[in-house]
Amino acid sequence: MHDLTPPRGQLLKWIGNKQRFAAAIVATFPRDFGTYWEPFVGAGAVVATLRPERAVASDVLRPLVEVWRTLQADPARLVADYAERRARLLGPDKVAQYLAVRTRYNAAPNAADLVLLARACYGGVIRFSKKGTMNTPCGIHRPIPSEMFAKRVSSWRERVARVRFEVSDFDPMLDAAVARDLVYCDPPYSDSAGTLYGAQAFTLSRLLAAIERAKARGVRVALSIDGSKRSGRHECDLPLPPGLFETELRVDVGRSMLRRFQMEGQTLEHERVADRLLLTWVWEPERATGSLL
Ligand SMILES: C[S@@+](CC[C@H](N)C(=O)[O-])C[C@H]1O[C@@H](n2cnc3c(N)ncnc32)[C@H](O)[C@@H]1O
Repeated sequence: MHDLTPPRGQLLKWIGNKQRFAAAIVATFPRDFGTYWEPFVGAGAVVATLRPERAVASDVLRPLVEVWRTLQADPARLVADYAERRARLLGPDKVAQYLAVRTRYNAAPNAADLVLLARACYGGVIRFSKKGTMNTPCGIHRPIPSEMFAKRVSSWRERVARVRFEVSDFDPMLDAAVARDLVYCDPPYSDSAGTLYGAQAFTLSRLLAAIERAKARGVRVALSIDGSKRSGRHECDLPLPPGLFETELRVDVGRSMLRRFQMEGQTLEHERVADRLLLTWVWEPERATGSLL
């Protein structure tokens, strides 16, 4: 198994991205699996950390999948489009330029504008209204330089070289997985989010049913549940079917940082952030790709 370190910087900023948890999440995965499936790929932190030999990654948001496909097929295009749009934002009318891109994106959603919006929007949090309109205001920061973006493009491209990217609702993807395959699900945290893109609404009950079907076929499924306060209430309410998940883990952020601080006699206990990870299989550390401890 190759080195399972996450990419050094994110290609896209994306709400709920798993960049900080990715190393710990993939460490729980079994070493032996057929095809890797990631049906809520978003900004792809987990698949880019795993760097699978055979994989299908999908998302319901078409322009996002177009970003991934452009990364694979025409990385120079992705960089040139970013450089051209970013340059316009450096002038005095930054906000007007940003809003022009946002209006154009909302009229005709496309990969090049989405990349710029993700990198330049306020707080790096792309939000869509109920009707599917991207409505985040312009950020106060300066988007990363084009040269830095180009480096990320080249490193991320190599990491996802063997992944097939699809536009799809999660259901058909989970149903396509076969025995010994591995599926990682990082769904949106709100049950309403899936209504935005013309897909069937995302509901946890629909996802749990798909996971149940997959498990019955011998597919192993890992499911992330956000550990932050925002979903705290949601977490308690989760109606998990008894017996569906065999293992529940808390994935901590910044374990290496924690260790470093402890060695210096300090503790970061109060800063610990944990993510909940449910596995449909019995987790055996010696058969996993890495150690959580
Ligand atoms: C929490 S994000 C995934 C973040 C990802 N793990 C990362 O590291 O960036 C959830 C993703 O699910 C997608 N999504 C929402 N509803 C969906 C559905 N019904 N089927 C497939 N994908 C969906 C969203 O577009 C979003 O990119």
